[in-house]
Amino acid sequence: MKVISLINMKGGVGKTTLSTNICDCLSRRNNKKVLLIDIDPQFNATQCLFTGEEYIKHLTENKDTIVSVFEEKRNVVRSVEGLSKKKGKELKEINPIQVKDNFYILPGHLELYRIEMAAGSGKENRLRRYIQEITTKINFDFIIIDTPPTPSIWMTSALIASDYYLIPVKPDPISYTGIDLLKTIIDDKKEDFNLKIKCIGLVFTMVEREDSIVYKSALSKIESEDWKKYKYRKYLPKRTDIAKFQLNKSFILDTNDTSICMALVGVVDELIKRIEDDEKK
Ligand SMILES: Nc1ncnc2c1ncn2[C@@H]1O[C@H](COP(=O)(O)OP(=O)(O)OP(=O)(O)O)[C@@H](O)[C@H]1O
Ligand SMILES: [Mg+2]
Repeated sequence: MKVISLINMKGGVGKTTLSTNICDCLSRRNNKKVLLIDIDPQFNATQCLFTGEEYIKHLTENKDTIVSVFEEKRNVVRSVEGLSKKKGKELKEINPIQVKDNFYILPGHLELYRIEMAAGSGKENRLRRYIQEITTKINFDFIIIDTPPTPSIWMTSALIASDYYLIPVKPDPISYTGIDLLKTIIDDKKEDFNLKIKCIGLVFTMVEREDSIVYKSALSKIESEDWKKYKYRKYLPKRTDIAKFQLNKSFILDTNDTSICMALVGVVDELIKRIEDDEKK
């Protein structure tokens, strides 16, 4: 079982699109059992897998979300019998939802914004511990974490819980120049928390044209530096249908667009191959 976080501090680079579609592809094409964890308070990945009504029903029925992992376990509540302690959930009681064959999600929640978490409080370790618990019950092959675009406590929790991180990059100068800073921040966290997490690659997303000046200059920046060895052969092209159908539980493999399906399959195959190669080291 491998845990992979999709990370980039730049917003809107395709983290959510890539994480949901990697999960879909791994589960339906590669027949892997996959859990998607949505740790972004914007909960966009969750919105790709639930309709508005389904999500409200999920919350009204008190089903679990990422908040269950982080919220305080002891809340004193006033009842008719007087004060009593409402016991919060133990990590092992938190259940992800199966959305398709082999595809599970621990949904996100806006309430993450309200949970106070001081750095160093120890809560950063809760996601890692949750993953240890859930994998004793369900035999996942991959856990993919969709992270928010800010270096927050949520990003730190994801890094602590992961074996690898994958960087989606949009070929515009602001997006790709930020990856050096991202690496520095991750390296600092590795040192602070004594982590073994490794970069498992860099995938270009939303590429409009291979011969465009922006894509060419993004490529030359990546290929002239240490990043070269991380760059995936395939990239995700820009297609309006991806954005259009995303909230209708539609995935790249559902489209009739062979080139983007092949691109996604290529990215997923390279991800698996890189992990296999890393394990042999
Ligand atoms: N290959 C693509 N072609 C066209 N549109 C895309 C593609 N990939 C992503 N998008 C669209 O671009 C927008 C940003 O993508 P996405 O939400 O995946 O980025 P993100 O990095 O997760 O953003 P955030 O930082 O806000 O979490 C979305 O509206 C999405 O539908
Ligand atoms: Mg996102």
